[in-house]
Amino acid sequence: MRRIATAVAAASTMTLSLAACGALGVAGDGSEASPTKGNDITVGLLLPETANTRYDKFDYPIIKNKVQELTDRQGKVVYRNADADAAKQASQLQKMIDDQVDVILLDAVDAHAIADGVQKAKDAGIPVIAYDRLAEGPIDAYVSFDNELVGEVQGRTLLEAMGGTDVDSADKIVMMNGSPTDPNAKQFKAGALSELNGTVTIAKSYDTKDWKPENAQANMAQAIKAIGSNNIKGVYSANDGMAAGVIKALEAAGVTELPPITGQDAELDAVQRILTGEQYMSVYKSYPQEAESAAEMAVAKVQGRDIQFDSLTQDQVDSPTDKDIPALLVPVVALTKNNIEETVLADGIYQLSEICTTKYKAACLAAGLDK
Ligand code: GAL
Repeated sequence: MRRIATAVAAASTMTLSLAACGALGVAGDGSEASPTKGNDITVGLLLPETANTRYDKFDYPIIKNKVQELTDRQGKVVYRNADADAAKQASQLQKMIDDQVDVILLDAVDAHAIADGVQKAKDAGIPVIAYDRLAEGPIDAYVSFDNELVGEVQGRTLLEAMGGTDVDSADKIVMMNGSPTDPNAKQFKAGALSELNGTVTIAKSYDTKDWKPENAQANMAQAIKAIGSNNIKGVYSANDGMAAGVIKALEAAGVTELPPITGQDAELDAVQRILTGEQYMSVYKSYPQEAESAAEMAVAKVQGRDIQFDSLTQDQVDSPTDKDIPALLVPVVALTKNNIEETVLADGIYQLSEICTTKYKAACLAAGLDK
């Protein structure tokens, strides 16, 4: 069934969780780290990369603060970043198992390859909550955004920019998808294709190794050669970092009037590019909602607060290895020039002064973002 992706998406209440009725018995499933613990807990946090600014700028600090707030400032977060290296993440996970942290929040570089590590944590009695990306293996819960919806919102907004109902199905676009080891990338792509297939012509499509902007740039340069820069009427870029690479390639090919280009993550420079019109849209994902919920889940899990844990995980998802995983899927919003105020500014993600620096003053004024 196709869901309707409006600008402000409907909350993901599609699946009624059995866990909500207590039927899954989250406690006593063999993955309890220890008898109920107090506030003196250690949460292990494994994040995948640094190329994208969200992880160090938002995910980690928000989770850390929330864990401290929930534990009377006694709990701590041990954070490791894998720099897009799956083997490095596997050893970071092993170290956390050896150190006997109480619970692990895992944002996988390679969701399939990390399954062994997840099993080892489970065998050691350490619960693992998959964070943002659905790791394979016996995870206890999953917290993320509605990732298929992310793709739908991107696809739909791109079509709007290309003429809405008047869009010509012969119009060529390029698709710059995310990393093939990231299950979210598959969902973004599927969501986008549900909007784009048959409506426009997808002239070239790439999966981008490690989500790296420079890889997207190189792929875009190839696409331009094959299609011709003037024939590209739109670019689906799965995230903001890659959108920057796409823009570099188009500019290097002498394009002065950029076609509409999508993104995701509401990175600061993407918001600025949206203001100047270089990038058409991004997807704003409320990091506080995702990260604070993850912290709440982790603490509830370790402290044996099953009712609270169940109430946090009312959705359900399946991974390639596990079924009916208790989950929380947070909705997302398309971010364009028109709703900067209601999204990143309203949530305090950025201050107006960070966005509207001297270089962007005129664009800010034109968009009604007065200082
Ligand atoms: C995805 C994540 C996005 C972004 C991307 C890498 O898995 O959902 O928010 O971080 O990885 O840029």
